[in-house]
Amino acid sequence: MASSTSLLASTLLLFVAVAGAAQTDPIVQAWPARAPVRDAALEARVEAALKTLTLRQKIGQMTQPEIRTITPDEVREYAIGTVQSGGGSWPGDDRGATPAQWRALSEQFQAAALQATPGIPLIWGVDAVHGHNNVRGATLFPHNIGLGATRDADLVRDIGRATARAVRATGLQWSFAPTLAVVQDVRWGRTYESFSVDPAIVRSLGRAEVEGLQEGMQDGHGVLATAKHFVADGGTLRGVDQGVSRTTPTELAQIHGAGHLGALDAGVLSVMVSFSSWTDSAGHVEHGKMHGNKTLLTEVLKQRLAFDGFIVSDWEGVGQVPGCIPEDCPAAINAGIDIIMVPFRWKAFIENTVREVEQGRIPMARIDDAVRRILRVKFSVGMTPRVPATVEAMQAPELARRAVRESLVLLKHKPGLLPLPRTAHVLVVGAAADSLAHQSGGWSVDWQDRDTTNADFPQGTTLLAALRQRLGTAQVVFDADGTQQDPARFDAVVAVLAEAPYAEGAGDIRINENLRHSLRYPQDLAVLQRVAGHGAPVVTLLYSGRPLYVNDLANRSDAFIAAWLPGTEGAGMADLLVAPAAGEPAWPGFTGRLPFPWPAGPCQFSSHEPKPWLPLGGGLSGKETRTNTRPLPDPPDPQPICPL
Ligand code: BGC
Ligand code: BGC
Repeated sequence: MASSTSLLASTLLLFVAVAGAAQTDPIVQAWPARAPVRDAALEARVEAALKTLTLRQKIGQMTQPEIRTITPDEVREYAIGTVQSGGGSWPGDDRGATPAQWRALSEQFQAAALQATPGIPLIWGVDAVHGHNNVRGATLFPHNIGLGATRDADLVRDIGRATARAVRATGLQWSFAPTLAVVQDVRWGRTYESFSVDPAIVRSLGRAEVEGLQEGMQDGHGVLATAKHFVADGGTLRGVDQGVSRTTPTELAQIHGAGHLGALDAGVLSVMVSFSSWTDSAGHVEHGKMHGNKTLLTEVLKQRLAFDGFIVSDWEGVGQVPGCIPEDCPAAINAGIDIIMVPFRWKAFIENTVREVEQGRIPMARIDDAVRRILRVKFSVGMTPRVPATVEAMQAPELARRAVRESLVLLKHKPGLLPLPRTAHVLVVGAAADSLAHQSGGWSVDWQDRDTTNADFPQGTTLLAALRQRLGTAQVVFDADGTQQDPARFDAVVAVLAEAPYAEGAGDIRINENLRHSLRYPQDLAVLQRVAGHGAPVVTLLYSGRPLYVNDLANRSDAFIAAWLPGTEGAGMADLLVAPAAGEPAWPGFTGRLPFPWPAGPCQFSSHEPKPWLPLGGGLSGKETRTNTRPLPDPPDPQPICPL
């Protein structure tokens, strides 16, 4: 009795000490204090369910295998609480898996989980980051950078709703979205997953997306959203994926935390940890990997911000914490991570974690806290999907078309050129004009999308197809590399240039490279050189995951449009390129405005570079009578070595 009293006393003392430290720690102080809102009935249900679980079952709740590595029988045997499918992961490893096949697998997982832990369902998470992008046939919306150009929170909320519907149609309940990165260096391969460099835009659109995704979550309509990646994923030095962000505590909270605060305002129940590290540039302290950062995960997110949902680690992210491997990492669990994404070696993870608890390296209280959070979230999500498992339920083409229309940013325009009249004969050049893979970017059916083809997007409309629909097939001629046709015989040329699809680190622009698009894609300059200067005006669209240095390309264009990664609905682009038919609504002009400044030089990597070509918020409507068609300085020759 005496010893347990003193244990209690010392625990209390420890708590007071920690709480006291947290109250004065500038890292914690930088964030706004929030109060928890708890539902007593829900908490009672959580406590009752927690009591029914053994240690192994609790660890099972915390373990997240990838669907390619686990069967429903193993879900039952190991009492697994959640599964996930990565980019380009489909039931039966079949890229053409139908919504009904996804749904059937989810029902098998669910039945198995409920046998293992009656009353405690399984949830399945997926990266539905621009629509339900792993599933063939789903409408794909513009990637976040394009949505940032719209500044339209109502639109983003509607996209969240439509995406939730698609995810529910396949029987899943959880999306790993939105990404709330506030990108500081556009060399980062994930720049397109970010709404903007402006924290206020990220906050408002992040909030809207969470609201849309989670709406009706309890009754089987909405899905769990995930605020990712906490925190400062977009702040890494030189835009290196999974690199080091150096900021003051205030910048950390006010710039990189903005989107997370918006997501918390919307009631987000899941947060994913960033692969990146954080260095406090005010205190001169290297805090290392976020996956091991107890101050930020526990003292800031769970305590200061009163976040009551669960924290999930990123793909084998715990393995990057010093002293850890992906399948064994007490430090990450002790830092506050509740669900461990351990795609492959999850059986070893369970064994190791049970042992770590039994040997006292992970306190039982920490395990119980994790499982309480998991149960609280699970009991807040309705498990019966109310959406039919059909391809139609995954489609929202009109909404996506509107999003595309609102997202295009007109960077250069010869007055009067756009919209093209309906009588125009148009030469379309650039292979990307006929490629849904380029139009959609990474995270589209597959992860990197190196091998995706138009057959992967049976529902999609390329820009080429959309122009044919709008102008009539006879008026549109396609010549991919511009070698077969005489541009002088056309009223206008539409040129589509593009970055090849990429995801995550594979898309980083490396230290020895720069932002000049024509250097990485010389064929795009070549095609413009063939068609420009022959009398027909050239309207250029660029599909890219970030702003790029394009002076040489813009100089060979009479109009230049940043189209970002618009997704499957090419009609949204045709709506702005071609005048409406008689009886259709008036031409809206371009309403998209830059979510990042547009560079004026090959080394303008930073989102805060002085003297960009166009600033954050820049963009023309197309209705101006005087505009910026004066030639830009040509790219420096030889290529500059960019300063470090
Ligand atoms: C998965 C992705 C994941 C990545 C991490 C891929 O194999 O499909 O979803 O993000 O691995 O390395
Ligand atoms: C990415 C996450 C993603 C996860 C699961 C990771 O590589 O960083 O954003 O949610 O894979 O696919």
